[in-house]
Amino acid sequence: MECSYFGKCGSCTLYTLDYNAQCAHKQEAMRTLFAPLHVKEFDFFTSPSEHYRGRSEFRIWKEGDTISYAMGAVDKKGAVCIETCPKVEMKIYDIMPKLLKQIESSLILREKIFAIEFLASSEHLLVTLIYHKPLKEEWDKEARKLEEMFGVFVIGRSRGIKRILSQDFVEDRFDIAGKMYRYHIIEGGFSQPNRAMNQKMISWVLRHLENCEDLLELYCGYGNFTIPMAGKFKKVLATEISKTSITSALQNCELNDIDTITFLRMSAEELTSALKKEREYNRLKGINLEDYRFSHVFVDPPRAGMDEASLEFISQFENIIYISCNPETLKRDLEVLTKKYAILHFALFDQFPNTEHLESGVILKRI
Ligand SMILES: C[S@@+](CC[C@H](N)C(=O)[O-])C[C@H]1O[C@@H](n2cnc3c(N)ncnc32)[C@H](O)[C@@H]1O
Repeated sequence: MECSYFGKCGSCTLYTLDYNAQCAHKQEAMRTLFAPLHVKEFDFFTSPSEHYRGRSEFRIWKEGDTISYAMGAVDKKGAVCIETCPKVEMKIYDIMPKLLKQIESSLILREKIFAIEFLASSEHLLVTLIYHKPLKEEWDKEARKLEEMFGVFVIGRSRGIKRILSQDFVEDRFDIAGKMYRYHIIEGGFSQPNRAMNQKMISWVLRHLENCEDLLELYCGYGNFTIPMAGKFKKVLATEISKTSITSALQNCELNDIDTITFLRMSAEELTSALKKEREYNRLKGINLEDYRFSHVFVDPPRAGMDEASLEFISQFENIIYISCNPETLKRDLEVLTKKYAILHFALFDQFPNTEHLESGVILKRI
């Protein structure tokens, strides 16, 4: 990838290496990190080296009436103004400068704007403009012109306000092993930033599912993995802390005509205490946990990894699939799990070329 902001913008740190060298560097770092757990080899999945990010956020820098996109500087002192970013998907890349010019030309759109977020899918592009001012009908009128001009959905956000002009979700579609999946992804919930890698992760997980009965999933988001995995299991119980993501997840069951998943808005900690019968929750009324025979647990926690109680709780099931966006917390959690489990497969997914970040997938079986 070529970028005129390398060495100035803090978002890329591995730019001195070509893509193959970056992959070798990341694998070596992971070999060193996981050597104490006797992991020597990984399946490694590469990404397109540019235009891979379908979700991106930029701060807005102002000088008089001029506005620019801005990223944190590499030396962590201040910001670097950029025109566009070669990491973002072409849909975003193409409109970034034109969209900004249009916002700049309108006082209502320009005034007190401090960030812009992009969410791209196979079908749509959604743009969220974030402000330090209340947004009223006059803002809607101007923002609607952006929707018409660029063929995008626009949302306005400011403290406590979300103004939706057309819709606040995108629809993503992709094919895995000859089956088409459709997702509504509502703005504001988590979504995997690299869509190509996301599909590789889902395929990898599906290929390694065997002897499936029922599935327990923690941190399920909008059902990104849940929906394709459901085809392999009799029943699925999937939980997630975010209300927005659960709303998407319920819609995604309908979109994909699946009725074997129960999605619940519950933190991993709450679900663990419910399954351990420590506490009763209204949200579990009508759900008989005794009906489930969980052969597999699937977890995809945030960067902090799993809490101790949930980790201990899942350590009773036959198979665990752990997707992680943070090798350090993954290692910490695997140190606990490998007392009772063997690592059958360990994959690395290069979700973020030109950076040190790496996504991992581990399949564990009870010893
Ligand atoms: C890395 S994302 C994975 C989501 C999903 N698997 C996907 O691929 O889109 C982690 C998810 O965990 C959720 N989360 C964060 N803390 C949580 C907690 N304590 N309990 C349950 N879910 C949590 C977040 O809202 C987020 O959706």
